[in-house]
Amino acid sequence: MERTLIIVKPDAVQRGLTGEIIRRFEARGLRIIGMKFMLISREVAERHYAEHKGKGFYEGLLNYITSSPSVVMVLEGPNAVQAARTTIGKTKPFEAEAGSIRGDLALETGRNLVHGSDSVESGEREIAIFFKADELVSWSRASDPWILE
Ligand code: RTP
Ligand code: MG
Repeated sequence: MERTLIIVKPDAVQRGLTGEIIRRFEARGLRIIGMKFMLISREVAERHYAEHKGKGFYEGLLNYITSSPSVVMVLEGPNAVQAARTTIGKTKPFEAEAGSIRGDLALETGRNLVHGSDSVESGEREIAIFFKADELVSWSRASDPWILE
Protein backbone atom coordinates (compact mmCIF):
# COMPACT_ATOMS: atom_id res chain seq x y z
CA MET A 1 0.00 0.00 0.00
CA GLU A 2 1.21 3.50 -0.84
CA ARG A 3 0.05 6.90 0.33
CA THR A 4 -0.07 10.12 -1.66
CA LEU A 5 -0.84 13.73 -0.78
CA ILE A 6 -3.46 15.41 -2.94
CA ILE A 7 -4.26 19.13 -2.93
CA VAL A 8 -7.47 20.29 -4.58
CA LYS A 9 -5.99 23.71 -5.37
CA PRO A 10 -7.68 27.13 -4.95
CA ASP A 11 -8.82 27.35 -8.59
CA ALA A 12 -10.63 24.01 -8.27
CA VAL A 13 -12.36 25.06 -5.04
CA GLN A 14 -13.34 28.46 -6.50
CA ARG A 15 -14.70 26.79 -9.63
CA GLY A 16 -16.87 24.40 -7.61
CA LEU A 17 -14.91 21.37 -8.85
CA THR A 18 -14.02 19.96 -5.40
CA GLY A 19 -16.69 17.25 -5.55
CA GLU A 20 -15.93 16.35 -9.17
CA ILE A 21 -12.22 15.92 -8.38
CA ILE A 22 -12.77 13.88 -5.20
CA ARG A 23 -15.32 11.77 -7.10
CA ARG A 24 -12.70 10.78 -9.68
CA PHE A 25 -10.22 9.60 -7.03
CA GLU A 26 -12.95 7.69 -5.18
CA ALA A 27 -14.19 6.10 -8.39
CA ARG A 28 -10.62 5.04 -9.21
CA GLY A 29 -10.66 3.05 -5.97
CA LEU A 30 -8.23 5.12 -3.92
CA ARG A 31 -9.23 5.26 -0.26
CA ILE A 32 -9.41 8.59 1.58
CA ILE A 33 -7.62 8.38 4.94
CA GLY A 34 -7.36 12.10 5.73
CA MET A 35 -8.95 15.33 4.52
CA LYS A 36 -9.05 19.00 5.53
CA PHE A 37 -10.32 22.29 4.11
CA MET A 38 -7.77 25.02 4.75
CA LEU A 39 -6.18 28.25 3.64
CA ILE A 40 -2.57 27.20 3.06
CA SER A 41 -0.16 29.64 4.73
CA ARG A 42 2.88 31.06 2.99
CA GLU A 43 5.15 29.14 5.39
CA VAL A 44 3.45 25.80 4.68
CA ALA A 45 3.46 26.52 0.93
CA GLU A 46 7.21 27.25 1.04
CA ARG A 47 7.84 23.92 2.78
CA HIS A 48 5.59 22.01 0.41
CA TYR A 49 7.11 23.53 -2.76
CA ALA A 50 10.73 23.82 -1.44
CA GLU A 51 12.07 21.94 -4.50
CA HIS A 52 10.89 24.78 -6.77
CA LYS A 53 12.52 27.66 -4.82
CA GLY A 54 14.43 29.96 -7.19
CA LYS A 55 12.52 28.89 -10.32
CA GLY A 56 10.80 31.54 -12.43
CA PHE A 57 7.31 30.35 -11.56
CA TYR A 58 7.99 29.99 -7.79
CA GLU A 59 6.52 33.32 -6.58
CA GLY A 60 3.46 32.95 -8.80
CA LEU A 61 3.01 29.39 -7.54
CA LEU A 62 3.13 30.49 -3.88
CA ASN A 63 0.68 33.33 -4.55
CA TYR A 64 -1.67 30.91 -6.35
CA ILE A 65 -1.65 28.18 -3.70
CA THR A 66 -2.12 30.64 -0.79
CA SER A 67 -4.72 32.85 -2.53
CA SER A 68 -7.88 31.04 -1.44
CA PRO A 69 -8.82 27.79 0.38
CA SER A 70 -7.74 24.33 -0.74
CA VAL A 71 -8.84 20.80 0.16
CA VAL A 72 -5.90 18.63 1.23
CA MET A 73 -6.25 14.84 1.27
CA VAL A 74 -4.27 11.70 1.87
CA LEU A 75 -5.19 8.80 -0.40
CA GLU A 76 -4.11 5.21 0.05
CA GLY A 77 -3.97 2.26 -2.33
CA PRO A 78 -1.68 -0.02 -4.32
CA ASN A 79 0.60 2.18 -6.45
CA ALA A 80 -1.37 5.18 -5.14
CA VAL A 81 1.29 7.72 -6.21
CA GLN A 82 1.34 6.73 -9.88
CA ALA A 83 -2.39 5.99 -10.03
CA ALA A 84 -3.22 9.46 -8.69
CA ARG A 85 -0.74 11.15 -11.07
CA THR A 86 -2.41 9.38 -14.02
CA THR A 87 -5.86 10.46 -12.85
CA ILE A 88 -4.52 14.05 -12.48
CA GLY A 89 -2.78 14.18 -15.89
CA LYS A 90 0.36 15.95 -17.10
CA THR A 91 1.56 19.18 -15.41
CA LYS A 92 0.74 21.29 -18.48
CA PRO A 93 -3.01 20.85 -18.97
CA PHE A 94 -2.79 21.41 -22.72
CA GLU A 95 -0.62 18.26 -22.88
CA ALA A 96 -2.76 16.23 -20.46
CA GLU A 97 -4.76 13.32 -21.83
CA ALA A 98 -8.50 13.70 -22.23
CA GLY A 99 -10.05 11.69 -19.40
CA SER A 100 -7.61 13.07 -16.83
CA ILE A 101 -8.62 15.86 -14.45
CA ARG A 102 -6.30 18.40 -16.08
CA GLY A 103 -7.05 17.12 -19.60
CA ASP A 104 -10.78 17.52 -19.07
CA LEU A 105 -11.03 20.57 -16.81
CA ALA A 106 -7.96 22.85 -17.17
CA LEU A 107 -5.99 24.85 -19.74
CA GLU A 108 -3.01 26.54 -18.07
CA THR A 109 -0.06 25.23 -16.03
CA GLY A 110 -0.48 27.89 -13.35
CA ARG A 111 -4.16 26.91 -12.90
CA ASN A 112 -3.86 23.14 -13.08
CA LEU A 113 -6.39 22.36 -10.33
CA VAL A 114 -4.72 19.61 -8.34
CA HIS A 115 -1.45 18.43 -6.82
CA GLY A 116 -0.35 14.83 -6.38
CA SER A 117 2.91 13.63 -4.82
CA ASP A 118 5.53 12.60 -7.43
CA SER A 119 7.06 9.71 -5.43
CA VAL A 120 6.44 7.68 -2.28
CA GLU A 121 9.22 9.63 -0.50
CA SER A 122 7.76 12.99 -1.57
CA GLY A 123 4.38 11.75 -0.36
CA GLU A 124 5.72 10.93 3.10
CA ARG A 125 7.42 14.32 3.33
CA GLU A 126 4.32 16.21 2.14
CA ILE A 127 1.84 14.26 4.31
CA ALA A 128 3.92 15.19 7.39
CA ILE A 129 3.62 18.89 6.47
CA PHE A 130 -0.19 18.82 6.43
CA PHE A 131 -1.27 16.04 8.81
CA LYS A 132 -0.44 14.83 12.29
CA ALA A 133 -0.32 11.03 12.60
CA ASP A 134 -3.60 10.98 14.58
CA GLU A 135 -5.41 12.86 11.81
CA LEU A 136 -5.05 9.89 9.45
CA VAL A 137 -7.74 7.24 9.83
CA SER A 138 -7.09 3.55 9.38
CA TRP A 139 -10.34 1.95 8.21
CA SER A 140 -11.63 -0.86 6.05
CA ARG A 141 -14.05 -0.05 3.28
CA ALA A 142 -16.94 -2.35 2.39
CA SER A 143 -15.96 -2.22 -1.30
CA ASP A 144 -12.29 -3.09 -0.71
CA PRO A 145 -12.60 -6.79 -1.72
CA TRP A 146 -14.12 -5.64 -5.04
CA ILE A 147 -11.32 -3.15 -5.74
CA LEU A 148 -8.26 -4.81 -4.19
CA GLU A 149 -7.38 -8.35 -5.26
P1 RTP B 1 2.13 19.50 -8.52
O1 RTP B 1 3.46 19.42 -7.80
O2 RTP B 1 1.35 20.74 -8.20
O3 RTP B 1 1.34 18.23 -8.39
O4 RTP B 1 2.41 19.58 -10.08
P2 RTP B 1 3.42 18.73 -10.92
O5 RTP B 1 4.17 17.75 -10.07
O6 RTP B 1 2.65 18.20 -12.06
O7 RTP B 1 4.39 19.86 -11.40
P3 RTP B 1 5.69 20.48 -10.71
O8 RTP B 1 6.79 20.45 -11.70
O9 RTP B 1 5.92 19.87 -9.37
O10 RTP B 1 5.25 21.99 -10.53
C1 RTP B 1 4.50 22.39 -9.40
C2 RTP B 1 3.45 23.36 -9.82
O11 RTP B 1 4.08 24.58 -10.19
C3 RTP B 1 3.34 25.20 -11.22
N1 RTP B 1 4.20 25.34 -12.38
N2 RTP B 1 4.17 26.36 -13.17
N3 RTP B 1 4.65 28.18 -15.25
C4 RTP B 1 5.37 27.07 -15.19
O12 RTP B 1 6.22 26.79 -16.00
C5 RTP B 1 5.09 26.15 -14.11
N4 RTP B 1 5.68 25.00 -13.92
C6 RTP B 1 5.12 24.48 -12.81
C7 RTP B 1 2.15 24.31 -11.52
O13 RTP B 1 1.04 24.75 -10.72
C8 RTP B 1 2.64 22.97 -11.05
O14 RTP B 1 1.56 22.12 -10.75
MG1 MG C 1 5.14 18.31 -8.28
